[in-house]
Amino acid sequence: MDISQVIRDRRSIRKYQDRPVEWEKIEQVLEAARLAPSWKNLQCWRFLVVTDPGKKAGLLAAFPEENPGKKALAMAPCVILVCADPKESGVENGIEYFVADTAIAFEHLCLAATDLGLGTCWMGMFDEPALRLALKIPEGIRVVGVTPLGYPDQEPRPRPRKELGEIAYCDDWGKPC
Ligand SMILES: Cc1cc2nc3c(=O)[nH]c(=O)nc-3n(C[C@H](O)[C@H](O)[C@H](O)COP(=O)(O)O)c2cc1C
Repeated sequence: MDISQVIRDRRSIRKYQDRPVEWEKIEQVLEAARLAPSWKNLQCWRFLVVTDPGKKAGLLAAFPEENPGKKALAMAPCVILVCADPKESGVENGIEYFVADTAIAFEHLCLAATDLGLGTCWMGMFDEPALRLALKIPEGIRVVGVTPLGYPDQEPRPRPRKELGEIAYCDDWGKPC
């Protein structure tokens, strides 16, 4: 699919079909994440792919009921944790770049999934220590986001976005292009 179309089509998917994801497709989305740019090209990201039902049950306990995506995690055949080793990144102007690095990789993954007809949903509302404990993730590794991965069972309408004029300025701060 054309990249502009993929960007337009991506949605947060919170309902999934009861259908496994082919391993080649999981590999393809991970490969897209691997190719992301990163601070000093240090590639601090790590990905944990969870398909084992027992491990998924442990993971679910780390998500609060009020998280609108919790049911999606239970439904999806695969869950990917996007993690970072902050020691392999750095800080500039007070910005911790492990967050930026993994966010870019995460979005690469989401766009590649859309291109393959798969759904994702970035989830950031979880109990990180509980998640780390449930999946035996080493101390020091940060879990930046979690996404279900599977075949969508819904076609959500696009969520609203701010107009370009509100967020993009030309020459003078506040002057719309
Ligand atoms: C950093 C981040 C954290 C998010 N955390 C959650 C979450 O915990 N649960 C959830 O259901 N959706 C979560 N979302 C999804 C957003 O709600 C969603 O991206 C937004 O409403 C726009 O919808 P769209 O992705 O379909 O365009 C998160 C998205 C981002 C980027």
